[in-house]
Amino acid sequence: MSYQFETCSAEETIQVGKQLSALLPERGAVLLIGNLGAGKTTLVKGIAQARGAAEPEDVSSPTFPLIHEYGDPPRVFHVDLYRLETEEEVLSLGLDEYLDRRGLTLIEWGERFPGLWPKETPRIELEYLGEDLRRIRLDR
Ligand SMILES: Nc1ncnc2c1ncn2[C@@H]1O[C@H](COP(=O)(O)OP(=O)(O)OP(=O)(O)O)[C@@H](O)[C@H]1O
Ligand SMILES: [Mg+2]
Repeated sequence: MSYQFETCSAEETIQVGKQLSALLPERGAVLLIGNLGAGKTTLVKGIAQARGAAEPEDVSSPTFPLIHEYGDPPRVFHVDLYRLETEEEVLSLGLDEYLDRRGLTLIEWGERFPGLWPKETPRIELEYLGEDLRRIRLDR
């Protein structure tokens, strides 16, 4: 099944994140796929808000540490694998432990490590169409 949206601002992408949250499982991995600045982190703001885990302004790019946890108890995990190069490096983050936890793990740049994710892992693709315009598609 696939769902598609177009947004004209970061605020609209946050709203789409809130809608997509309802279409995503309670736990497990979700791949966020798109170029630098496509809006992956912006979308996480909406998903985290919809799950009562964090307010949009409290969600930031996970650079150091590479995994942010949101909610008490944590129920949204946000990972950015941009700077990692090998599957071994990714595994050393303890990512499989996160995937076993009760919560959704939203992963930026995870498509570069296709061997690490279950085959049925939902994918959200974000495409830059113009300065403020983005296309967002969920395949699950
Ligand atoms: N329609 C839109 N949806 C999302 N972001 C938008 C939109 N229009 C403009 N923007 C801007 O684009 C930028 C998106 O940044 P964001 O950090 O979400 O991207 P990203 O895909 O996570 O990039 P990176 O790979 O560098 O982590 C923000 O500055 C945001 O304000
Ligand atoms: Mg990001």
